Amino acid sequence: MPAAIARRQVGARLSSAATGTRCRDKLVMKQYLGEFGIPMTRYMADGAELDPREVFAKLGSPVVRKYRKSSGGKGLQVIHRLEEYVPGAHGLSLLERFIDAPEASIESFIDNGRIRFTNITQYQVKGHTNFIPAILDSQQQRTLRALNERVIEALNIGWGMTHLEVYLTEKGPLFGEIALRPPGGYIMNAIQHAWDFNPWEAFLAMELGEEFVFPNDPVSYAASEVLHPGPGKIIAVHGKSKVLDEQGVREFRIKVKPGDVMDGRSGLGQDAGFVVHASPTPQERLRLHERIVQSLVIDIQKL
Ligand SMILES: Nc1ncnc2c1ncn2[C@@H]1O[C@H](COP(=O)(O)OP(=O)(O)O)[C@@H](O)[C@H]1O
Ligand SMILES: [Mg+2]
Repeated sequence: MPAAIARRQVGARLSSAATGTRCRDKLVMKQYLGEFGIPMTRYMADGAELDPREVFAKLGSPVVRKYRKSSGGKGLQVIHRLEEYVPGAHGLSLLERFIDAPEASIESFIDNGRIRFTNITQYQVKGHTNFIPAILDSQQQRTLRALNERVIEALNIGWGMTHLEVYLTEKGPLFGEIALRPPGGYIMNAIQHAWDFNPWEAFLAMELGEEFVFPNDPVSYAASEVLHPGPGKIIAVHGKSKVLDEQGVREFRIKVKPGDVMDGRSGLGQDAGFVVHASPTPQERLRLHERIVQSLVIDIQKL
Protein backbone atom coordinates (compact mmCIF):
# COMPACT_ATOMS: atom_id res chain seq x y z
CA MET A 1 0.00 0.00 0.00
CA PRO A 2 2.69 2.61 0.86
CA ALA A 3 4.46 1.70 -2.37
CA ALA A 4 1.25 2.13 -4.37
CA ILE A 5 0.68 5.58 -2.80
CA ALA A 6 4.32 6.60 -3.38
CA ARG A 7 4.07 5.54 -7.01
CA ARG A 8 1.13 7.85 -7.55
CA GLN A 9 2.81 10.72 -5.71
CA VAL A 10 6.07 10.65 -7.66
CA GLY A 11 4.31 9.96 -10.94
CA ALA A 12 5.80 6.48 -11.36
CA ARG A 13 4.09 4.12 -13.77
CA LEU A 14 1.64 1.59 -12.39
CA SER A 15 2.08 -2.07 -13.25
CA SER A 16 -0.88 -4.02 -14.53
CA ALA A 17 -2.95 -5.69 -11.85
CA ALA A 18 -2.53 -9.07 -13.59
CA THR A 19 1.28 -8.81 -13.54
CA GLY A 20 1.11 -7.71 -9.91
CA THR A 21 -0.92 -10.76 -8.94
CA ARG A 22 1.32 -13.13 -10.93
CA CYS A 23 4.37 -11.74 -9.11
CA ARG A 24 2.81 -11.92 -5.67
CA ASP A 25 0.49 -14.92 -5.50
CA LYS A 26 2.78 -17.97 -5.61
CA LEU A 27 0.02 -20.30 -6.80
CA VAL A 28 -1.11 -18.03 -9.64
CA MET A 29 2.57 -17.43 -10.51
CA LYS A 30 3.31 -21.14 -10.81
CA GLN A 31 0.15 -21.95 -12.73
CA TYR A 32 0.82 -19.13 -15.17
CA LEU A 33 4.55 -19.78 -15.69
CA GLY A 34 4.00 -23.55 -15.83
CA GLU A 35 2.03 -22.98 -19.02
CA PHE A 36 5.13 -21.41 -20.54
CA GLY A 37 7.18 -24.51 -19.73
CA ILE A 38 9.22 -22.86 -16.97
CA PRO A 39 10.86 -25.68 -14.95
CA MET A 40 9.76 -25.76 -11.31
CA THR A 41 9.25 -28.20 -8.49
CA ARG A 42 5.97 -30.12 -8.31
CA TYR A 43 3.25 -28.25 -6.40
CA MET A 44 -0.45 -28.35 -5.62
CA ALA A 45 -3.09 -26.03 -4.24
CA ASP A 46 -3.70 -26.70 -0.54
CA GLY A 47 -7.08 -27.60 0.92
CA ALA A 48 -8.83 -29.36 3.77
CA GLU A 49 -10.17 -32.03 1.40
CA LEU A 50 -6.70 -33.33 0.47
CA ASP A 51 -5.78 -36.82 1.63
CA PRO A 52 -2.37 -36.50 3.39
CA ARG A 53 -1.30 -39.90 2.02
CA GLU A 54 -1.95 -38.74 -1.50
CA VAL A 55 -0.09 -35.49 -0.85
CA PHE A 56 3.01 -37.38 0.32
CA ALA A 57 2.65 -39.89 -2.51
CA LYS A 58 2.51 -37.09 -5.03
CA LEU A 59 5.12 -34.70 -3.58
CA GLY A 60 7.42 -37.00 -1.64
CA SER A 61 8.81 -36.25 1.81
CA PRO A 62 9.26 -33.68 3.22
CA VAL A 63 6.40 -31.55 1.95
CA VAL A 64 6.74 -27.76 1.95
CA ARG A 65 3.69 -25.70 2.84
CA LYS A 66 3.75 -21.97 2.26
CA TYR A 67 1.33 -19.09 2.09
CA ARG A 68 0.42 -17.96 -1.40
CA LYS A 69 1.04 -14.31 -0.56
CA SER A 70 3.81 -14.41 2.01
CA SER A 71 7.44 -13.36 1.67
CA GLY A 72 10.72 -13.68 3.56
CA GLY A 73 9.89 -17.25 4.56
CA LYS A 74 7.07 -16.15 6.88
CA GLY A 75 4.81 -19.03 7.84
CA LEU A 76 6.72 -21.55 5.73
CA GLN A 77 6.57 -25.12 7.05
CA VAL A 78 8.53 -28.22 6.15
CA ILE A 79 6.43 -31.27 7.02
CA HIS A 80 8.51 -34.39 7.43
CA ARG A 81 6.04 -37.01 8.53
CA LEU A 82 2.48 -37.95 7.80
CA GLU A 83 1.63 -37.59 11.50
CA GLU A 84 2.74 -33.94 11.48
CA TYR A 85 0.45 -33.09 8.61
CA VAL A 86 -2.62 -31.05 9.54
CA PRO A 87 -5.27 -30.13 6.96
CA GLY A 88 -4.57 -26.84 5.23
CA ALA A 89 -7.00 -23.99 4.83
CA HIS A 90 -8.43 -23.79 1.38
CA GLY A 91 -7.21 -20.97 -0.84
CA LEU A 92 -4.53 -19.65 1.50
CA SER A 93 -1.53 -21.87 0.90
CA LEU A 94 0.14 -24.25 -1.50
CA LEU A 95 2.16 -27.44 -1.09
CA GLU A 96 5.44 -28.22 -2.82
CA ARG A 97 7.95 -30.95 -3.31
CA PHE A 98 11.11 -30.19 -1.30
CA ILE A 99 14.22 -29.31 -3.33
CA ASP A 100 17.58 -30.12 -1.80
CA ALA A 101 19.85 -27.82 -3.80
CA PRO A 102 21.86 -24.60 -3.47
CA GLU A 103 19.94 -21.41 -4.15
CA ALA A 104 20.68 -18.25 -6.05
CA SER A 105 18.79 -15.23 -7.24
CA ILE A 106 19.03 -12.99 -10.24
CA GLU A 107 18.23 -9.31 -10.02
CA SER A 108 17.22 -7.51 -13.22
CA PHE A 109 16.74 -3.87 -14.10
CA ILE A 110 14.26 -3.59 -16.93
CA ASP A 111 13.47 -0.60 -19.07
CA ASN A 112 11.45 -0.30 -22.24
CA GLY A 113 10.80 -4.06 -22.35
CA ARG A 114 14.52 -4.81 -22.27
CA ILE A 115 16.66 -6.28 -19.49
CA ARG A 116 19.31 -3.61 -19.07
CA PHE A 117 21.37 -5.16 -16.29
CA THR A 118 21.46 -8.37 -14.26
CA ASN A 119 23.28 -9.46 -11.15
CA ILE A 120 23.46 -13.02 -9.89
CA THR A 121 23.43 -13.55 -6.12
CA GLN A 122 24.58 -16.77 -4.50
CA TYR A 123 22.86 -17.78 -1.26
CA GLN A 124 26.09 -18.90 0.38
CA VAL A 125 24.39 -19.57 3.72
CA LYS A 126 20.63 -19.63 3.18
CA GLY A 127 18.96 -16.84 5.12
CA HIS A 128 22.29 -15.39 6.28
CA THR A 129 25.02 -14.86 3.67
CA ASN A 130 24.65 -13.59 0.11
CA PHE A 131 27.62 -13.48 -2.30
CA ILE A 132 27.37 -10.82 -5.00
CA PRO A 133 28.26 -11.53 -7.75
CA ALA A 134 27.91 -15.32 -7.58
CA ILE A 135 30.67 -17.62 -8.72
CA LEU A 136 29.03 -19.99 -11.19
CA ASP A 137 30.44 -21.68 -14.25
CA SER A 138 29.53 -20.05 -17.55
CA GLN A 139 27.11 -22.83 -18.51
CA GLN A 140 25.18 -22.34 -15.25
CA GLN A 141 25.16 -18.58 -15.77
CA ARG A 142 23.79 -18.98 -19.28
CA THR A 143 20.95 -21.30 -18.31
CA LEU A 144 20.11 -19.07 -15.36
CA ARG A 145 20.00 -15.93 -17.52
CA ALA A 146 17.93 -17.75 -20.15
CA LEU A 147 15.43 -18.84 -17.50
CA ASN A 148 15.27 -15.29 -16.14
CA GLU A 149 14.61 -13.90 -19.63
CA ARG A 150 11.86 -16.43 -20.32
CA VAL A 151 10.11 -15.63 -17.03
CA ILE A 152 10.29 -11.86 -17.50
CA GLU A 153 9.05 -12.19 -21.04
CA ALA A 154 6.21 -14.54 -20.07
CA LEU A 155 5.11 -12.07 -17.41
CA ASN A 156 5.40 -9.24 -19.89
CA ILE A 157 7.32 -7.07 -17.43
CA GLY A 158 8.21 -3.91 -19.32
CA TRP A 159 10.05 -1.95 -16.65
CA GLY A 160 11.19 -2.01 -13.03
CA MET A 161 13.32 -4.28 -10.92
CA THR A 162 12.84 -8.02 -10.44
CA HIS A 163 14.30 -10.53 -8.01
CA LEU A 164 13.99 -14.12 -9.24
CA GLU A 165 14.96 -17.02 -7.00
CA VAL A 166 16.23 -20.34 -8.36
CA TYR A 167 17.35 -23.71 -7.07
CA LEU A 168 20.55 -24.87 -8.74
CA THR A 169 19.89 -28.59 -9.12
CA GLU A 170 22.20 -31.02 -10.88
CA LYS A 171 19.72 -31.21 -13.73
CA GLY A 172 19.67 -27.44 -14.18
CA PRO A 173 18.01 -24.43 -12.57
CA LEU A 174 14.50 -24.76 -11.16
CA PHE A 175 12.39 -21.62 -10.90
CA GLY A 176 11.53 -20.74 -7.29
CA GLU A 177 9.68 -17.46 -7.46
CA ILE A 178 9.88 -13.96 -8.84
CA ALA A 179 9.20 -10.66 -7.09
CA LEU A 180 8.62 -7.40 -8.94
CA ARG A 181 10.55 -5.31 -6.44
CA PRO A 182 14.05 -4.92 -5.01
CA PRO A 183 15.39 -7.86 -2.97
CA GLY A 184 15.84 -7.94 0.80
CA GLY A 185 18.77 -9.42 2.71
CA TYR A 186 20.92 -6.31 2.10
CA ILE A 187 21.46 -7.55 -1.45
CA MET A 188 20.95 -3.96 -2.64
CA ASN A 189 23.80 -2.77 -0.39
CA ALA A 190 26.09 -5.51 -1.68
CA ILE A 191 25.18 -4.72 -5.31
CA GLN A 192 26.32 -1.16 -4.70
CA HIS A 193 29.75 -2.26 -3.49
CA ALA A 194 30.20 -5.04 -6.06
CA TRP A 195 29.16 -3.03 -9.12
CA ASP A 196 29.86 0.53 -8.02
CA PHE A 197 26.49 2.08 -8.77
CA ASN A 198 23.56 2.98 -6.55
CA PRO A 199 20.89 0.33 -7.25
CA TRP A 200 18.18 2.44 -5.60
CA GLU A 201 18.86 5.25 -8.07
CA ALA A 202 18.79 2.72 -10.88
CA PHE A 203 15.51 1.29 -9.58
CA LEU A 204 13.96 4.76 -9.51
CA ALA A 205 15.26 5.49 -13.02
CA MET A 206 13.65 2.27 -14.32
CA GLU A 207 10.38 3.11 -12.59
CA LEU A 208 10.33 6.62 -14.04
CA GLY A 209 11.60 5.64 -17.48
CA GLU A 210 14.72 7.77 -17.05
CA GLU A 211 18.21 7.16 -18.40
CA PHE A 212 20.66 5.14 -16.35
CA VAL A 213 24.15 3.93 -17.25
CA PHE A 214 24.94 0.48 -15.89
CA PRO A 215 28.46 -0.92 -15.52
CA ASN A 216 29.65 -3.91 -17.55
CA ASP A 217 31.82 -5.50 -14.91
CA PRO A 218 31.93 -5.75 -11.13
CA VAL A 219 34.66 -3.88 -9.26
CA SER A 220 34.74 -6.27 -6.30
CA TYR A 221 33.34 -9.45 -4.79
CA ALA A 222 30.83 -8.34 -2.20
CA ALA A 223 28.72 -10.11 0.40
CA SER A 224 26.00 -9.35 2.88
CA GLU A 225 25.99 -11.16 6.21
CA VAL A 226 22.63 -11.02 7.97
CA LEU A 227 22.86 -11.64 11.70
CA HIS A 228 20.30 -13.52 13.75
CA PRO A 229 21.30 -15.53 16.82
CA GLY A 230 17.93 -17.26 17.25
CA PRO A 231 15.36 -16.64 20.00
CA GLY A 232 16.48 -15.67 23.49
CA LYS A 233 17.94 -12.90 25.64
CA ILE A 234 21.08 -11.21 24.27
CA ILE A 235 23.96 -11.72 26.73
CA ALA A 236 26.89 -10.31 24.76
CA VAL A 237 28.04 -9.34 21.28
CA HIS A 238 31.62 -10.49 20.63
CA GLY A 239 34.03 -9.52 17.89
CA LYS A 240 32.82 -6.05 16.94
CA SER A 241 36.31 -4.56 16.92
CA LYS A 242 37.65 -7.47 14.86
CA VAL A 243 35.01 -6.78 12.22
CA LEU A 244 35.79 -3.04 12.25
CA ASP A 245 39.48 -3.80 11.77
CA GLU A 246 38.83 -5.71 8.56
CA GLN A 247 39.82 -3.76 5.44
CA GLY A 248 37.01 -5.23 3.38
CA VAL A 249 34.13 -4.26 5.65
CA ARG A 250 32.02 -1.53 4.05
CA GLU A 251 28.92 -1.45 6.25
CA PHE A 252 28.39 -2.82 9.73
CA ARG A 253 25.50 -2.42 12.07
CA ILE A 254 24.47 -4.20 15.26
CA LYS A 255 20.87 -3.47 16.17
CA VAL A 256 20.76 -5.27 19.52
CA LYS A 257 22.37 -4.82 22.93
CA PRO A 258 22.73 -7.04 25.99
CA GLY A 259 19.39 -7.47 27.72
CA ASP A 260 17.35 -7.25 24.53
CA VAL A 261 15.05 -10.17 23.81
CA MET A 262 15.04 -11.60 20.29
CA ASP A 263 11.98 -13.44 19.08
CA GLY A 264 12.30 -16.51 16.91
CA ARG A 265 12.94 -15.53 13.33
CA SER A 266 9.49 -15.62 11.78
CA GLY A 267 10.74 -13.97 8.60
CA LEU A 268 14.02 -13.13 6.90
CA GLY A 269 13.22 -9.44 7.35
CA GLN A 270 14.04 -9.77 11.05
CA ASP A 271 17.70 -9.45 11.97
CA ALA A 272 20.03 -8.40 14.75
CA GLY A 273 22.30 -6.52 12.39
CA PHE A 274 24.32 -6.95 9.23
CA VAL A 275 27.76 -6.68 7.65
CA VAL A 276 28.43 -5.81 4.03
CA HIS A 277 31.95 -6.46 2.78
CA ALA A 278 33.89 -6.34 -0.47
CA SER A 279 37.08 -8.10 -1.57
CA PRO A 280 39.29 -8.03 -4.67
CA THR A 281 38.91 -11.78 -5.36
CA PRO A 282 36.33 -14.51 -4.71
CA GLN A 283 38.87 -16.38 -2.54
CA GLU A 284 39.43 -13.37 -0.31
CA ARG A 285 35.68 -12.87 -0.04
CA LEU A 286 35.22 -16.43 1.15
CA ARG A 287 37.99 -16.08 3.73
CA LEU A 288 36.64 -12.76 4.99
CA HIS A 289 33.17 -14.32 5.30
CA GLU A 290 34.65 -17.18 7.34
CA ARG A 291 36.58 -14.82 9.62
CA ILE A 292 33.49 -12.68 10.25
CA VAL A 293 31.30 -15.69 11.02
CA GLN A 294 33.94 -16.97 13.41
CA SER A 295 34.63 -13.75 15.30
CA LEU A 296 31.25 -12.01 15.31
CA VAL A 297 29.23 -14.03 17.81
CA ILE A 298 26.04 -13.00 19.56
CA ASP A 299 25.56 -14.93 22.80
CA ILE A 300 22.01 -15.59 23.84
CA GLN A 301 20.35 -17.18 26.78
CA LYS A 302 17.36 -19.31 25.84
CA LEU A 303 14.24 -18.19 27.66
N1 LIG B 1 10.02 -26.50 -2.26
C1 LIG B 1 11.06 -26.09 -1.52
N2 LIG B 1 12.13 -26.89 -1.33
C2 LIG B 1 13.18 -26.50 -0.57
N3 LIG B 1 13.26 -25.33 0.06
C3 LIG B 1 12.22 -24.48 -0.09
C4 LIG B 1 11.08 -24.80 -0.87
N4 LIG B 1 10.23 -23.75 -0.83
C5 LIG B 1 10.82 -22.83 -0.05
N5 LIG B 1 12.01 -23.24 0.40
C6 LIG B 1 12.97 -22.49 1.25
O1 LIG B 1 12.30 -21.41 1.90
C7 LIG B 1 12.75 -20.16 1.39
C8 LIG B 1 11.58 -19.20 1.26
O2 LIG B 1 10.63 -19.75 0.37
P1 LIG B 1 10.08 -18.95 -0.88
O3 LIG B 1 9.30 -19.87 -1.72
O4 LIG B 1 11.22 -18.24 -1.54
O5 LIG B 1 9.07 -17.92 -0.24
P2 LIG B 1 9.29 -16.46 0.36
O6 LIG B 1 10.70 -16.05 0.11
O7 LIG B 1 8.33 -15.61 -0.39
O8 LIG B 1 8.94 -16.59 1.79
C9 LIG B 1 13.44 -20.49 0.08
O9 LIG B 1 14.42 -19.53 -0.27
C10 LIG B 1 14.02 -21.85 0.38
O10 LIG B 1 15.23 -21.74 1.12
MG1 LIG C 1 11.71 -16.27 -1.64
